[in-house]
Amino acid sequence: MCGIVGYIGNQDAKEILLKGLDKLEYRGYDSAGIAVINGGQVHIFKEKGRIADLRAIVDTDLATNTGIGHTRWATHGVPSKLNAHPHQSTSGRFTLVHNGVIENYDLLKREYLQEVSFKSETDTEVIVQLIELFVNDGLSTDEAFRKTLKLLKGSYAIALLDTESGETIYVAKNKSPLLVGLGDGFNVVASDAMAMLQVTNQYVELMDKEIVIVTKDEVTIENLDGEVISRAPYTAELDASDIEKGTYPYYMLKEIDEQPLVLRRIIQTYQDHQGKLVIDDEIIDAVKAADRLYIIAAGTSYHAGLLGKQFIESMAKVPVEVHIASEFGYNMPLLSERPLFIFISQSGETADSRSVLVRVKEMGYKTLTITNVPGSTLSREADFTLLLHAGPEIAVASTKAYTAQMAVLAILGQVAAKKSGLDSDFDLVHELGIVANAMEVLCDSKEEFEKIAREYLLTTRNAFFIGRGIDYYVGQEGALKLKEISYIQAEGFAGGELKHGTIALIEEGTPIIALATQEHVNLSIRGNVKEVVARGANPCIISRKGLDMKEDRFVIPEVHELLTPLISVVPLQLLAYYAALQRGCDVDKPRNLAKSVTVE
Ligand code: G6P
Repeated sequence: MCGIVGYIGNQDAKEILLKGLDKLEYRGYDSAGIAVINGGQVHIFKEKGRIADLRAIVDTDLATNTGIGHTRWATHGVPSKLNAHPHQSTSGRFTLVHNGVIENYDLLKREYLQEVSFKSETDTEVIVQLIELFVNDGLSTDEAFRKTLKLLKGSYAIALLDTESGETIYVAKNKSPLLVGLGDGFNVVASDAMAMLQVTNQYVELMDKEIVIVTKDEVTIENLDGEVISRAPYTAELDASDIEKGTYPYYMLKEIDEQPLVLRRIIQTYQDHQGKLVIDDEIIDAVKAADRLYIIAAGTSYHAGLLGKQFIESMAKVPVEVHIASEFGYNMPLLSERPLFIFISQSGETADSRSVLVRVKEMGYKTLTITNVPGSTLSREADFTLLLHAGPEIAVASTKAYTAQMAVLAILGQVAAKKSGLDSDFDLVHELGIVANAMEVLCDSKEEFEKIAREYLLTTRNAFFIGRGIDYYVGQEGALKLKEISYIQAEGFAGGELKHGTIALIEEGTPIIALATQEHVNLSIRGNVKEVVARGANPCIISRKGLDMKEDRFVIPEVHELLTPLISVVPLQLLAYYAALQRGCDVDKPRNLAKSVTVE
């Protein structure tokens, strides 16, 4: 949700800011802007649309070494040039960019800023106007900044410029992510280390309610009471090539193709020298001590959780409940006596999941985060973390993180089972190796999925994904992939449930993608396919080797039945990719969405 950058040093700030914003576009892309200082004057460039649209209007001749930038995912106010950041105070002295939501902005307007005429519909403008108000009352800039922050309720990552101290960027954060990057003769600010990897890999993490005064030679972190805090930098272990598309037309395709590699990396990372799967004893003890696991997640991560439940229950024999994060907070079920909460989140920043985390921590329960981003908010705030090791996932539609989440959940189930003495002859390392090979076979069958997409999805208004048991959960993910990037209305349904209402939607030619990878329900799902075919549907059966029949459109390789979701999703990812491409959609940046959803 919105990306922030800042640069102060000796080089051309505009170019560094624009390149940084390019890397943050995954966080929001409905409008963007930069503010740069030149000769004590602030110049603002903003535009509705993508960073490329912004780049087109930036004055390339303007010399500047200091600036801030923003790419927006609208919350308050429509996407427009007017609502795009940076926002300025009335006199033009203060300029800021903000990521987050100020919940009490309306109250603050009424209480302090009755006289001010606002230019935008954003909550953000309140912050910059409050700072000016307090400076006009006689406070220094950092006193006014501090006083303003103390009044704000909600989430924020802020970078602020003051024309009267053009050699400084003022920074603060609460709940929304923000980092300061260190360089020789320059310093930077970014929502994500990826943005500024172009100039540095040395970063300082910021904690909630800290203020940072950034000059080109110094970074001073203080708490809201002005006490200086010292914190050592860390090296961002990101390979620049991980965040480039290389020869791929879209990140999504690159990330689909990376899945076998990610899976092999996971197997390796979670193995000890003897080849045994290992997870920290503390985590396994927490699983063993729990009488029920509660998986909390959103979007694709929620779908991974549904499959994680199958893995953990069948291996470790611990009951698992899976909940949508945004619902759980408002409708908490009756909890068991000794729950353990597991948060699954690619980004580790999803606000809906975080609000549950905060709540259950207050209730005194233990928490584990499974995330792709070390040092992310959910990782820092949970008792334990398991990492996905999937490398940066940049396409908005999650692919490799989903399969990585399932793999880590399976490993957790297996290690917990072994520690509980529930020994089986299920050799997960070996089975996951087979899965990785099968993924490769599927990634090599792209042409076939391109054809199937053209055949079934090119002009359709809607599509249904059906399955039973595990296949039903994978179908839900297939439907989500398709709808989010191709805008085809798609639903994942339990095969047997269609006849209780939804079958009324079946018309001549409606595509039905049916998964048939589970032996015990193979015949029943095929029965459900017959029911929809009798009503005119156009069936595309994706089955597993060994269960295949002559009417099947594609047969995936045979892997351990419990682990089929790790491969049966690959055709669905590729179908969504090609459908979006063929229908002329922007695969990596679908409309209305953002990758990291840091508002509730
Ligand atoms: C957004 C993304 C989805 C993602 C969901 C949860 O909606 O577009 O791809 O699954 O957030 O994100 P998380 O980072 O918590 O997994």
